[in-house]
Amino acid sequence: MSINTPPITPQQYEVLHGGGAEAAEIAGQRLSRRRFLRRSMLAVWGLSTTAAVAGALYMMYPNLAGQFGSALTIGIKSAFPATKPSEYTLGQKGVFYVQEAKTYISHLAAGSPLLLSGSNLTDQLQSESFVKDSDGSYWVALYQRCVHLGCTVPFRNDCVSFKCPCHGSHYNVDGEYLDGPAPRSLDRFALSFSGTSVIVDTGMLNNKVSRPEASTRIIPMPTQQCSV
Ligand code: FES
Repeated sequence: MSINTPPITPQQYEVLHGGGAEAAEIAGQRLSRRRFLRRSMLAVWGLSTTAAVAGALYMMYPNLAGQFGSALTIGIKSAFPATKPSEYTLGQKGVFYVQEAKTYISHLAAGSPLLLSGSNLTDQLQSESFVKDSDGSYWVALYQRCVHLGCTVPFRNDCVSFKCPCHGSHYNVDGEYLDGPAPRSLDRFALSFSGTSVIVDTGMLNNKVSRPEASTRIIPMPTQQCSV
């Protein structure tokens, strides 16, 4: 039996086929039921569609607030003291690992020896996502992921640089490529300040920093060799 045709009693059948006002009333009731059922089905379909669209939107634009993939406040400036590249020491000065942001903060002291100057320096700092602070120091937030095949890259105090344990890609304290199979320098996230707080936007990645050449390298290569 069709869902649009609710059962009727024998008496109703008689009336319907006998005609008259009573028949018209019953026919009207059946029509109303049919409309009701149709509207109910449309309402269920509408709710299902809305839920499906909401689910798809969540998949496309998940709410990552406070998680990796969003802007994270990682601490106050004074927790990341700057130093010269040759004196970087993990967790103490110059370079700091921030686990929730999967990031190394590199904080270069004002007056550090640099290989570029003037507009060349300004342009290169901008293309490598450095942020100049009011005290003249420079900040950059480096993604921990090796740009060769994705291993996590540790910072090595012994050779004052990042060296990937997987295939040996080697990066300077600011993430600039030094040697190994990596196709480019380390990727970096957008960094900004809010008062004295440091914010790393892990949803904004600069993955276009080329291997430096003599005319684009910012920081001198380290003099210490890695033991392995
Ligand atoms: S994954 Fe780092 S060198 Fe290959």
